[in-house]
Amino acid sequence: MKISPSILAADFLKLEVEVNRLKKAGADLLHFDIMDGHYVPNLTFGIPIIKKIREICSLPFDIHLMVTNPDNYIQELASLDVDYISWHPETVYHNHRLIEKIKSYGIKAGWALNPATPVNITDSVYIDLDFVLLMSVNPGFSGQSFLPIVYDKIAKIIDLNRQRQIPLEIQVDGGVNADNAPLLAQAGADILVAGSFILNNPDYYKAVTALRPIYRG
Ligand code: DX5
Ligand code: ZN
Repeated sequence: MKISPSILAADFLKLEVEVNRLKKAGADLLHFDIMDGHYVPNLTFGIPIIKKIREICSLPFDIHLMVTNPDNYIQELASLDVDYISWHPETVYHNHRLIEKIKSYGIKAGWALNPATPVNITDSVYIDLDFVLLMSVNPGFSGQSFLPIVYDKIAKIIDLNRQRQIPLEIQVDGGVNADNAPLLAQAGADILVAGSFILNNPDYYKAVTALRPIYRG
């Protein structure tokens, strides 16, 4: 299982220090929450910040778009060599076209599903998506409480995966901590996104390690 710390919970005055600490802590990817203040009631950061972080970090970048026009960001993100892009399907008219566009850059394309969005909406594009990001909080903020509704959704995706040669990767995002991580791993999550649990901990290495139940001593 991979751990993707969310930069949203970082101290923005010390971004370089924070990124270096996350690298040393064993982060597998870095998760960037781009919010535009329209799709969600919060505004975070955009491409210029991600561009500066790319200059100091070669980890895979995991971009989560909570914006009304995700299409507008793809070309520039591709130029930054990002690895995963997820967006909320209800923000886009032509989802299949967007999947194809993202994949044409060699980037993994994924749908971010809100707690209230059913998993069966993936049926229509199931074969074309690379991953799903299952939200275990409502999108918009770091530090919210985990919604256990996500376990059932993981089970449904695992079930769908029996029909695929390459399984759809499953990310879980929101309220992830050392208590729910073992259960999420057992349920079949591939990537755990965690903001406050890691970045509010004085020891990032300890926090990242605590989320990897399989490897825990
Ligand atoms: C919420 C974001 C999450 C958030 C996670 O809209 O998508 O990625 O940063 O933060 P925690 O782990 O604190 O819930
Ligand atoms: Zn996110």
